[in-house]
Amino acid sequence: MAETMTAAAPTRLDSLIANSPVASVVSNPRLQDNPIIACNQAFKDLTGYDDDEIIGRNCRFLAGAETEPWLSDTIRDGVRERRPVLVEILNYKKNGTPFRNALLVAPIFDTAGELEFFLGSQVEIPADAPGIRAGAHGDINLITLLLGAEEGGLQLLTRQGEWLSIAPPEGALVINVGDMLERLTNNQLPSTIHRVLNPPPERRHIPRYSMPFFLHLASDVLIETLPGCIDADHPNLYPSPITANDFLVQRLIEIGLKT
Ligand SMILES: Cc1cc2nc3c(=O)[nH]c(=O)nc-3n(C[C@H](O)[C@H](O)[C@H](O)COP(=O)(O)O)c2cc1C
Repeated sequence: MAETMTAAAPTRLDSLIANSPVASVVSNPRLQDNPIIACNQAFKDLTGYDDDEIIGRNCRFLAGAETEPWLSDTIRDGVRERRPVLVEILNYKKNGTPFRNALLVAPIFDTAGELEFFLGSQVEIPADAPGIRAGAHGDINLITLLLGAEEGGLQLLTRQGEWLSIAPPEGALVINVGDMLERLTNNQLPSTIHRVLNPPPERRHIPRYSMPFFLHLASDVLIETLPGCIDADHPNLYPSPITANDFLVQRLIEIGLKT
């Protein structure tokens, strides 16, 4: 591993990164374009590049077509202002495979307080990392109207207990039944359990803006099973009415958001 370090690499940084399991590079900001002057085996394993393709180059070669330009700007600003920066940025391996890179770039100062090096640490976030953006939940309210769910990720739990991916067409309005409507209708309109997954690495930079409208009943409205939803086959599951506020509090306690 020692041969990975160039002669120019400083001894204390040699020992700092050489045996680290975390992919790491050291750059020299005193040289033109802040080139990498040392890297470790973990960096070569992660990226697939060899020493001669790494040493002497600015680390921007890991960026590519879909790399978030605003995150590259964040790193550039941090480098210019000599402060540490932590980003999760889309990078590419030598073979073109995209990966999410949890990247820390930090300045290192000499004993006189002069900027000497930058240390970069790259951690690959696996594509199958817990990619749940919003965990499984039902909405407590009456009805939710959702605009802008086109950028994938929304899943509904079916009666069979399987997650079903939903791809609403452009401009569609998603209407969801909430817990209050479920109770009002004696469970005939079940509150849908849903979750939102993170997109795959190559789409994670695309913003997923959606706009939910949560329709709640006024706090003092009594949630009383609708008579039309009660018959011999469907006895009233909720004989005691409850105010919308008490129901909200009860549900918040049940899901651990209130004590
Ligand atoms: C030590 C160090 C490590 C870096 N590692 C990465 C990296 O792993 N991935 C990346 O996209 N950019 C990385 N960068 C940022 C790029 O080198 C460059 O600063 C960034 O792309 C913004 O500059 P540019 O707009 O001139 O390309 C690193 C920078 C430094 C100083």
